[in-house]
Amino acid sequence: MHAPETYPPHADEADLQLDAGGRLRHLLTLKGLDKDLLISLLDDAERFLSPAGATTTRSSSLAGRTVANLFFEPSTRTRASFDLAGKRLGADVLNLDVNTSSRKKGESILDMIYTLQAMRVDIMVVRDASAGVPAYIARHVNDYVSILNAGESDVSHPTQGLLDLLTIRQHKGHFENLTVTIVGDIAHSRVARSAADGLRTMGVGELRLVCPPALAPDGDDLPGAQVVHDLDEGLADADVVMALRIQRERIGNLDGIPGIDEYFANYGISHERMKGAKPDAIVMHPGPMNRGIEIESSLADSPASVITQQVTNGVAVRMAVLEHVSKSLAVD
Ligand code: CP
Repeated sequence: MHAPETYPPHADEADLQLDAGGRLRHLLTLKGLDKDLLISLLDDAERFLSPAGATTTRSSSLAGRTVANLFFEPSTRTRASFDLAGKRLGADVLNLDVNTSSRKKGESILDMIYTLQAMRVDIMVVRDASAGVPAYIARHVNDYVSILNAGESDVSHPTQGLLDLLTIRQHKGHFENLTVTIVGDIAHSRVARSAADGLRTMGVGELRLVCPPALAPDGDDLPGAQVVHDLDEGLADADVVMALRIQRERIGNLDGIPGIDEYFANYGISHERMKGAKPDAIVMHPGPMNRGIEIESSLADSPASVITQQVTNGVAVRMAVLEHVSKSLAVD
């Protein structure tokens, strides 16, 4: 049996992402990606959207490429949308069953990656509960393989951040002067971190993080954001309200975490609490959603909710990301 692998954090994670020509090579984090590149990804994602009921937009831009989905944590939205995104671009898509993969027998993650690389997998989409795994893999693959982070511990979920930016842009048209309020388990949320990274780059007016003290982020973990513990204060005149799930799988000690009823009473987003936000405020949630805990069920299904639109945008954003990295892999 080999020694357990460790994935030490490196300061250069953001620098790994672009090739010498400035093209997106890996997507590991939204940190370090400039505003022009984010806008280009959002614009390209818009091209892949089609009206509900119409046939989906397709292309053959990834024909001949192979995308492997390597999800070592549960997923519905991200895994399904990377699968659909790859297929709609003409790629071969491999969904590795992690429960029957040789990693379960003790194979190291790098040996698994080298095996897939030898099979000419071009793009590996990785979700893992351990921080540092996507960057660790990106540092070890060949020049012609790209790594996409599909959710990394509590650190980063960059395609979720992009789909959130796209959804906000569709409704508000801009980011400056907007007040965005994220409510819930900020401490353990990769969604909040990537949203904050993207919103900061796009020049958001104000970012508020509302959470119980036990679920507050450490220090300056999300720079530029204001942490508040009172929901009404956080929601006052907000343009965008994003509810988060309590990440129980990442909370070691539940001391200080309110029970369900207390949590909903103090931090649940409801029609009543939303009266403090702007009248045209939109309600977001990354999913999976716990109705009646972080969000009132009828609010999740109300006209203010853009939750299903976020899911639709997720496929389009992932198509845009796949196209961008595929161009960087092309042999000139
Ligand atoms: N938002 C999100 O990452 O959902 P999944 O866990 O279903 O992929």
